Amino acid sequence: MNSKILIIGACGQIGSELTLKLREEHGNDFIIASDIREGDDALMSSGPFEILDATDDSALEDVVMHYEIGEIYLMAAMLSATSEKFPMKGWNLNMKTLFNVLNLAKDFKINKVFWPSSIAVFGPSTPKFDTPQNTIMEPTTVYGISKQTGERWCHYYHKRYGVDVRSLRYPGLISYKTQPGGGTTDYAIEIFHEALKKGHYDCFISENTALPMMYMDDAIEATIKIMRAPASEIKVRSSYNVSAISFTPDELYQSIKNHLKDFQIEYHPDFRQEIADSWPSSIDDTAARNDWGWRHKYSLEKITQEMIEGISPKISLDFEG
Ligand code: SER
Repeated sequence: MNSKILIIGACGQIGSELTLKLREEHGNDFIIASDIREGDDALMSSGPFEILDATDDSALEDVVMHYEIGEIYLMAAMLSATSEKFPMKGWNLNMKTLFNVLNLAKDFKINKVFWPSSIAVFGPSTPKFDTPQNTIMEPTTVYGISKQTGERWCHYYHKRYGVDVRSLRYPGLISYKTQPGGGTTDYAIEIFHEALKKGHYDCFISENTALPMMYMDDAIEATIKIMRAPASEIKVRSSYNVSAISFTPDELYQSIKNHLKDFQIEYHPDFRQEIADSWPSSIDDTAARNDWGWRHKYSLEKITQEMIEGISPKISLDFEG
């Protein structure tokens, strides 16, 4: 069995932290990072890196064969807001990369696949609170349609070809190490940067819109945990609901204000409001908790504190630089 791991999209918001965490645990040389562009110093200097466009199946196969890859984490995707601007580009990127990876597993060139799904698989007709694992799914965004379709294909490849593919429906992910790009839940990160830089934030989501959210450390923990679980514990082969906390922009504002007394916010919802309105407010993740023991650790208060502590030094560096 090949034991090396390939991360596709290693320079992105999740990929960058996942790569470093896996390198810490498996040893640097066992984790091959790849992306269409180079990443920051910490990523580039800590282990092997390949420039790779994962929509190109033969380029992907070359990397897999060269490094004797056993597992792939496919973290490259076009997120919800950007996919609304470039629907065909979003669809092609999100689907093509998934098929390329699933086909490598079907042909026994790799053993295991992680592919992220999202709360975007749900739509306006889905029950909004404590959204169940199995429920109505009529997504209204390009991103959501691509993730829902991807889930069906993961399930199909598992059932038909025995592919060991594992997946999580990530909520909005909050982190400070690498900037996100093109998501609807990105407001919950931007707000910290603007609060610390300017003391003011213009929020593109309205004040009472609750969305499911999770701190990046919890998301990485969930990702590694589901990949390490015995195959017999993975009973859902489309994608698992995973949840941590849920809050509105106003609740996040209040939490930040506990640390930064003069922080001001204004609300100017834009096209992303409609996307947010189509998603659940909170998620029921009993299946993940029961099947493979998922637990989250970070509360809103703890996240707020970590974000402020993590971003503050970067802001003072910006001012000095
Ligand atoms: N965070 C993603 C987005 O906003 C949802 O999965 O697009």
